[in-house]
Amino acid sequence: MLSNFEICKLLNIEYPIFQGGMARLGTTELVSAVSIAGGLGIIGSSDAPPDWLTDQIRQTKAKTDKPFGVNILLLTPYLEENLKVLVDEDVKIVTFGAGNPGKYIPALKEAGIKIMPVVSSVALARRLERLDIDAIIVEGMESGGHVGDTTTMALLPQIVSSVSVPVIAAGGIADGRGLVAALALGAKGIQMGTRFICSDECIAHPKFKESIIKAHDRATVVTGETTGHPVRCLENKLTRQFMTLEKEGVPISVLEELGRGKLFSGVIQGNIEEGSLMAGQIAGLIKDIKPVKSIIQEIMLEAEQIISALNKYK
Ligand SMILES: Cc1cc2nc3c(=O)[nH]c(=O)nc-3n(C[C@H](O)[C@H](O)[C@H](O)COP(=O)(O)O)c2cc1C
Repeated sequence: MLSNFEICKLLNIEYPIFQGGMARLGTTELVSAVSIAGGLGIIGSSDAPPDWLTDQIRQTKAKTDKPFGVNILLLTPYLEENLKVLVDEDVKIVTFGAGNPGKYIPALKEAGIKIMPVVSSVALARRLERLDIDAIIVEGMESGGHVGDTTTMALLPQIVSSVSVPVIAAGGIADGRGLVAALALGAKGIQMGTRFICSDECIAHPKFKESIIKAHDRATVVTGETTGHPVRCLENKLTRQFMTLEKEGVPISVLEELGRGKLFSGVIQGNIEEGSLMAGQIAGLIKDIKPVKSIIQEIMLEAEQIISALNKYK
């Protein structure tokens, strides 16, 4: 099996594969399975309150002593409280989504926490590199959830050429080919969201997992461009309604109201048409639901075979 990954040494993990901290789905079930399988599981705290986060961290620690992380969404109303939970519960790794975590970094470093912000532009990557971060996750617009506007293929090498910290690639990766492509573009590892939703351990509703399996290459759309918070989801009745209202130019408050509670409704309760089904463009490649361990092992094996096969060009 491939080895010698710098990011594995840094984080004390076996394989250079992160499970992106997903809102509603990055729970202890998936996180512990990924970490036990040798990747990095990441709890998605999104807009959850501090008692939920505390409980998820404790449950994960009870299941495994392998490293895991917490994703903090900078838009959460519980930001200060959840950052305190990280320190109180002795969390070792944090990733940040949706913004610039700059002012929170010194206190977290003081507490010995490794910090990996998620970025979707060269400018933010450069700005954050000046602070004391350990690695950076570069997320292209193919990914599920909140997105920027540049593809992984174009953004990743530009950020790799602009910073000296290790870079992790996210967005549009679901197999060994994606891992090798990311390594070729200069990444030290990958982060996946959509692929891990279709695992046995993810608590996503079976109907949502089935929607990903049925998805084709153009099954996702980006809504919310006009609100400043674009989100990639599988197209359904909700996204069509949302986009119609956006075209009509309704006030942002109307769009916010329409979106309220819809992620839970879609991904947990299985309301496939009325709920929000955040997922990435790579959904079209995912054709099965399997254990996390198989997902990780198959990716590593496929990557190794591709790297050997590429030697024929020598
Ligand atoms: C349902 C869902 C929820 C997500 N929630 C978050 C989040 O709360 N914070 C975050 O930083 N990224 C979030 N993401 C992004 C993932 O962590 C990951 O970077 C992304 O899914 C990678 O792209 P992929 O879906 O093509 O694998 C979410 C993605 C999905 C699909």
